[in-house]
Amino acid sequence: MKILVTGGAGYIGSHTCVELLKAGHEIVIVDNLSNSNKKSLHRVQAITEKKLDFYKVDIRDRKALEQVFEKHDINSVVHFAGLKAVGESVEKPLLYYKNNVGGTIILCEVMNKFDVKDIVFSSSATVYGDPHKVPIKEKFPVHPTNPYGRSKLMIEEILNDLNVSDSEWNAILLRYFNPVGAHESGLIGEDPNDIPNNLMPYISQVAVGKLDKLHVFGKDYPTEDGTGVRDYIHVVDLSLGHLNALDKLQENPGVTVYNLGTGEGYSVLEMISTFEKVSGKSIPYDILDRRSGDIAECYADPSLAKKELNWEAKRGIEDMCKDAWHWQKNNPQGYKI
Ligand code: NAD
Ligand code: UD1
Repeated sequence: MKILVTGGAGYIGSHTCVELLKAGHEIVIVDNLSNSNKKSLHRVQAITEKKLDFYKVDIRDRKALEQVFEKHDINSVVHFAGLKAVGESVEKPLLYYKNNVGGTIILCEVMNKFDVKDIVFSSSATVYGDPHKVPIKEKFPVHPTNPYGRSKLMIEEILNDLNVSDSEWNAILLRYFNPVGAHESGLIGEDPNDIPNNLMPYISQVAVGKLDKLHVFGKDYPTEDGTGVRDYIHVVDLSLGHLNALDKLQENPGVTVYNLGTGEGYSVLEMISTFEKVSGKSIPYDILDRRSGDIAECYADPSLAKKELNWEAKRGIEDMCKDAWHWQKNNPQGYKI
């Protein structure tokens, strides 16, 4: 199959490109490189020893996108392209709606024009907001609490509406929990532009000496050790879920939603101690107040993905920390240099 991967140069996109190529798919990537580096794609080719086609294209650029569809006979789209920083989305909501929602509308219009009606979309557990209980099931109410989360929910609804208007449209909405780790080669991984917002890249940068110490946001949550609990999932397991979703699209499922998580929650302190154990580095930290907007506990019930996609996460917390460290240690400046 020939698959268009939007945002394929990014963190999850580059790992998914590796798995798509390994599975024998042909891939075409569009990315505006606003939050990524082309080097990631050189590394994808080095890992797989396979070729890919890359276009530096913004998905809001209809003409450029149409040229890509004219040149390639695309069967399905895996849609990662989007902005993802929650704090920035609060400061710049219009940018998030324009890029994420506006970009997806143009992508879908171009897909319609070229009669490509199968899409896998990167949604997020953030659409659940603060869940009334855990583990979270797909049918739980959705209450995103920030513009980023709302942009994801709007796109889910747009894809639903498309299917209502034209049943040839199929969309698999994957709600990711907390992707972490890196490819076992240590050649590709997460490379935040700035000081990381998320826990795992922050810990890795403390371990490698780029940052002094970690700030643990809150130790008074109603959890076992008082720190926040999340469902961390190895990025390679998450990437493999997209292959199962592409298979599922062949059954014309309409619109379906799946949680991609492990079903296990780990606290911030457990993450720190596991990282210390696998890396042999100590991670100094201070306890600060809670981060505004954070929730105590969030983990998935991933059983629907197991049942209907025949997918489940296999890699544990030690692998996640080990592979994150391997990437960070080998690439202290990420792709820069
Ligand atoms: P990322 O920033 O590494 O990758 C996104 C890619 O999209 C980047 O390469 C960026 O340059 C590109 N992009 C952004 N806007 C674009 C546009 N208008 N046109 C073309 N390319 C554009 O992020 P990621 O962590 O790989 O996330 C991929 C997707 O998964 C995103 O949609 C994100 O919202 C979603 N997601 C991520 C997480 C996470 O924790 N990483 C969790 C849930 C959902
Ligand atoms: C963040 C996003 C969320 C997104 C998710 C997965 C925010 C507010 N939310 O959530 O929308 O879906 O990532 O990518 O950004 N922590 C620290 N110190 C740090 C960083 C984090 O103690 O420096 C704690 C947090 O309080 C939390 C846990 O570590 O308990 C995980 O944080 P993070 O990696 O940012 O993920 P989420 O909070 O789940």
